[in-house]
Amino acid sequence: EKGTYPHFMLKEMDEQPAVLRRIIKEYTNEAGELAVPQELIAEIKQAERIYVVACGTSYHAGWVGKELLESLAHIPVEVFLASEFSYNQPLLVEKPFFIFLTQSGETADSRQALVKVNEQNYPSLTITNVKGSTLSREANHTLLLHAGPEIAVASTKAYTAQMTVMAILAESLRREKGIEKSFDMAHELGVIATVIEGILSDKEDIHEIVKKELADTRNAFYIGRHMDYYVAMEAALKLKEISYIQTESFAAGELKHGTIALIEEGTPVIALINEDNVASHTRGNIQEVKARGARTMVVAMEKNAIEGDDVVISNVEEMLSPLTTVVVTQLIAYYASLDRGLDVDKPRNLAKSVTVE
Ligand code: F6R
Repeated sequence: EKGTYPHFMLKEMDEQPAVLRRIIKEYTNEAGELAVPQELIAEIKQAERIYVVACGTSYHAGWVGKELLESLAHIPVEVFLASEFSYNQPLLVEKPFFIFLTQSGETADSRQALVKVNEQNYPSLTITNVKGSTLSREANHTLLLHAGPEIAVASTKAYTAQMTVMAILAESLRREKGIEKSFDMAHELGVIATVIEGILSDKEDIHEIVKKELADTRNAFYIGRHMDYYVAMEAALKLKEISYIQTESFAAGELKHGTIALIEEGTPVIALINEDNVASHTRGNIQEVKARGARTMVVAMEKNAIEGDDVVISNVEEMLSPLTTVVVTQLIAYYASLDRGLDVDKPRNLAKSVTVE
């Protein structure tokens, strides 16, 4: 039930700090460490490479998961759209491990890929929000998202939950492999829950920006590099699916290789800037589109932000910045849809669970 909330999407965005804390609790072992079951760790440790297979928002979470698994646990990861994987299986390593990311656990494209994986007897894990769902039953292992039912068609809390569970999986593997830690995952996730609370309590500021910058536009762009590029992909999907603004995401450095031709007077370009080593480059790209008439907005982590100009997010561990940044972009999508008088929770042509291939 949505209670006093006008929309499930708003309720589900607001639940994110609580979901994060619940996940931390569910995955903390008796020794007080973030951990996933030992059998799962043992199986993944034998793999030469992980293949992540998913659709839509879950696919976007997969890219963030890849970065976390590679940087923390030093395991190579490839990410595939389920609908592409099923009919054009890539050349696999001898010992692969498959991770299926699916909120519903019922997505037909993902299931088809899992059927193929099972035919070849490869080990698999499904990360899902729904206990007992088809993909959970048909994979060797399951990790639950513990996000509670997600009703709005636009996925919000499941996306942040998926990234959190992937972070915990990566952390668990890192520890088991004896790789030195570069930050305290449990502490950082706790900090992030608080930072998200802050973003949500200032949501009216985001509404003002949306009113000013996105009220009458038919198109928009999100740009970013590295982790911000993955968030840009998700941000663009969210904005287009509920506001019907045609939104594209680009790796900021790729703009000049063609896309910049689309920039006209007043085209909104939203840049995401979190990481130190790409901040100045993305700033440069903002200047390039500005010079061609774009209306630019920047969402940046405090240490790389221009106070007074940017939407500023408190500093968090860079690798985990998608967890905070995406919340700003969820709010942008929500208000853009709301202000257009659209059906926020049930956008046209879409179903919550896509059970056809
Ligand atoms: C977008 C959205 C979809 C789903 C996709 C996969 O907001 O919700 O893109 O992410 O249909 O669904 P699951 O995760 O249930 O497999």
